[in-house]
Amino acid sequence: MTNITGVFEVERDPQTVERRKALLLMVGWLGTMGSLGALLAAGLRGLIPNLLDEPSQRYRIGRPEDYIDGSITFVEEIRVFVLRSGNAFRALSAICTHLGCTVNEAGDGEGFQCPCHGSRFATNGTVIEGPAPRPLEWFGMRQARDGRLLIDRGRTVEASSYLVLEDPEEASA
Ligand code: FES
Repeated sequence: MTNITGVFEVERDPQTVERRKALLLMVGWLGTMGSLGALLAAGLRGLIPNLLDEPSQRYRIGRPEDYIDGSITFVEEIRVFVLRSGNAFRALSAICTHLGCTVNEAGDGEGFQCPCHGSRFATNGTVIEGPAPRPLEWFGMRQARDGRLLIDRGRTVEASSYLVLEDPEEASA
């Protein structure tokens, strides 16, 4: 038995070796350029603002006189409570800030409660009892040209913000 040790050199055609080197170089360049192009495209995309056509968050909810003085009216289609006190109107979200269930008026007339996990909210929307992490949201209101009330669910306002009408009973006449 014969042991063969040592380094064997394979003779290659110098032209083949050069072609392989050139091919490897080209593949490397293409990979590098592709990566740089992707990075550049991602960077440029970040500079372009997202121009999505978002649906309007404004809803007409009827005329001021549809809401009697001192009432809290649930507008089911948009899950909002409309509170009227004299000439002042406000819109409170009925969406629980825990997991999004619809809150109800509390039976004792003191604010709102969530049927899902028991959160309770005061009439001003603040959390009385968790697990809700944040108060209910208040939405901006205004009166449209046709006299109807308009709620903008895309615009939150302070709890102390009201829409005050000079004469709600005549505003839409
Ligand atoms: S969704 Fe209202 S308490 Fe959980």
